[in-house]
Amino acid sequence: MPGGTAASFRAMFAALEPIGRDRASGGYRRFSWTGADLACRAWFAEQAATRGMDCAPDRNGNLWAWWGEPGPDAVVTGSHLDSVPDGGAYDGPLGLLAAFCAVDELRDRGVRPARPLAVAAFTEEEGGRFGVACLGSRLLTGAIEPDRARALTDADGISLAEAMRAAGQDPDAIGADPALLATIGAFVELHIEQGRGLVDLDAAVGLGTGIWPHGRWRYHFAGEANHAGTTRLADRRDPMLTFANTVLAARKKARLAGALATFGRIAVLPNGTNAVPSTVDGWLDARAPAEEQLAALVADITRAAGERGDRDGVRVVVTPESITPAVAFDRALLDRLGAALRGVPELATGAGHDAGILSAAVPTAMIFVRNHTGISHSPAEHADEADCLAGVHALADALDTLLT
Ligand code: GLV
Ligand code: MN
Ligand code: MN
Repeated sequence: MPGGTAASFRAMFAALEPIGRDRASGGYRRFSWTGADLACRAWFAEQAATRGMDCAPDRNGNLWAWWGEPGPDAVVTGSHLDSVPDGGAYDGPLGLLAAFCAVDELRDRGVRPARPLAVAAFTEEEGGRFGVACLGSRLLTGAIEPDRARALTDADGISLAEAMRAAGQDPDAIGADPALLATIGAFVELHIEQGRGLVDLDAAVGLGTGIWPHGRWRYHFAGEANHAGTTRLADRRDPMLTFANTVLAARKKARLAGALATFGRIAVLPNGTNAVPSTVDGWLDARAPAEEQLAALVADITRAAGERGDRDGVRVVVTPESITPAVAFDRALLDRLGAALRGVPELATGAGHDAGILSAAVPTAMIFVRNHTGISHSPAEHADEADCLAGVHALADALDTLLT
């Protein structure tokens, strides 16, 4: 690559940077199958074409760019293009920038792969539009039923099926793809770290060993809409009250359990300043070190919500939306990569990734890149370029070991 890896990284980053960025917040709104997502996909296809890599979506809309003929025992690397609402520039895209830069580095080294290599971009990793995290990798591995996925709706009531069709992707084709899955010999995802683990370890790059079990639950609180100026407090059936108490209970129970619980999204009806709400929907994101702890935490929060609802005259219905069990990445693969990366530290994470979903089906590992503030899912997310480039070199070394 003329100008080397740094120049190539900068040019790719600059081309992607304006896409889907909100001017006011400075954060990204790259929701799957929207115009911003399609522009990101065009960027991906262009990077593949520049490198002579054949690029096509699979039946679930995940993008695949191949160095060599698609075939068995492929080494696959990649991440995702979509973002959370007002997300940062690195969560997802860094894994794709690094993947294409690593391909360049391997070619510069004269590597002649003995196995095919693919760069993959998975759809709707964040669940930012349709609510289910890692939707593309779940569909690929059969972890979600196609009928359920097709019927998922966004905040405007548009279904996944409608959104895919509008974007030119056939929703009737979605579902488990054992033939494609069988071609993956190993999957390695590079990702910005979403905490300060590597800062504490004083390392630019680390190997991911596993992911805490985590999930999303929709808490529906149904009360009675009424006038804010005339309804006596004692006569109200106010779902906001039950919701507020549930938020406080979740926080306390998570603290006592050494776990995490977050209500970061709500929808209120009718959402009027001078009306007691009729319903509140709040989405719980909960994560814990072990699956039993996670189940106990959610059961506790649900019990607290129900008890408070009984006192408030509010009905509470809890629906799981996506649950990811504990993930331990492949030990043999980690040892191989550890040897290639000459003793980089290992660390686990509480953040979810497509690598976690794929790990149920194929040998999988992750490489994390230092994030000095630890901030993520925010416009302030940042990784120093030098650390990103250290990540590229590490990924190239990892792929080199696996390909030859
Ligand atoms: C993905 O970023 C998640 O952990 O929610
Ligand atoms: Mn994320
Ligand atoms: Mn991510």
